[in-house]
Amino acid sequence: MENNTATKTILSGIQPTNNLTLGNYIGAMKNFVNLQDKYPDYTKNYIIVDLHALTVPQVPSELRSRTYSMLALYLAIGLDPEKSNIFVQSHITGHTELTWILNTLTGMGQLNRMTQFKDKSAKEGTFINVGLYAYPVLMAADILLYNANLIPIGEDQKQHLELARDLAAKFNHTYSPTFNIPDPIIPKQGARIMDLQNPENKMSKSAISPKGTIILTEDLNITAKKIKSAVTDSGTDIVYDPNNPEKAGINNLLTIYSTLTDTEIPKIEEKYVNSGYGDFKKDLAEIVVETLRPIKEKHDEFLKNKDHLDQILKASAANVQKSAYKILSKVYKKVGLVAPLR
Ligand code: AMP
Ligand code: TRP
Repeated sequence: MENNTATKTILSGIQPTNNLTLGNYIGAMKNFVNLQDKYPDYTKNYIIVDLHALTVPQVPSELRSRTYSMLALYLAIGLDPEKSNIFVQSHITGHTELTWILNTLTGMGQLNRMTQFKDKSAKEGTFINVGLYAYPVLMAADILLYNANLIPIGEDQKQHLELARDLAAKFNHTYSPTFNIPDPIIPKQGARIMDLQNPENKMSKSAISPKGTIILTEDLNITAKKIKSAVTDSGTDIVYDPNNPEKAGINNLLTIYSTLTDTEIPKIEEKYVNSGYGDFKKDLAEIVVETLRPIKEKHDEFLKNKDHLDQILKASAANVQKSAYKILSKVYKKVGLVAPLR
């Protein structure tokens, strides 16, 4: 769908780093598909943010193949290129240029506060690259370059979105009204899926315990094993208790069950009132496996036809480039840059 400034825009991005997890699926990707159907008249831009991926060390050939794998996954979960633009960040001129302008409006103090930067830079050791630091500004540029209104994200991106809002307001105030102030869409449930082995940490692509992370494209026998061996507690009742940290394991499993089956948690508690953790986990393993099976199969199928994938990337980029240029030119003009002489 061509970007049209008269309609509202939904926009989100995921990095083609490591392997996508069940957390990415429940917290973000599943909602991309729901929004596609819920807002047929809106422009939807789903970006594979490869420039963001460069902020941590990458093996170039792997980054390239993961970019295609991610597109194949987007298609496999049900994103339709006729309804949603699915494109690669680095293909669109404007993301990095707008980042530069926004850099000049961003205080170092604002970036120093970013918890994800603190976590990631602690892992990187002594060499901390400027890109990792400026990463949230690039994310703000992704959003503002399309004047997006609604941003579906998981809980961990809230702080970054707040910066995008602040920068939009700061630009509007310093120059003149230009950007919408984007609103996050954070799912009420499943915005923070936890590690199956360490349920006090979020499930993450870069988790130390591979047993605690479900990878969307992994062997499904392994997936089933991971669910069945998920850490719970010494209790026996299948009850959701978010205020009890000891129950973090079972709370997380109930959340996964509920989001994947669209069933309210009390209904699930009722169903398992006479069962133990073992039976519950066995059923949940089947639910997760049967959710992922068709996704995995379609992903593998889409990945076989690279020409088709390239066509989608090209068509989507063509849909969005014009409006991106338009906003960027407006911004350049407002800050006092001389229009390019042709
Ligand atoms: P990333 O993997 O950092 O590129 O994240 C892509 C999207 O997935 C973002 O909207 C995140 O908030 C979301 N996400 C990542 N991990 C989780 C998780 N464990 N639970 C819920 N959402 C997540
Ligand atoms: N920073 C986000 C993450 O790691 C990904 C992202 C990049 C994004 N640009 C975005 C999300 C724009 C929403 C909107 O999860």
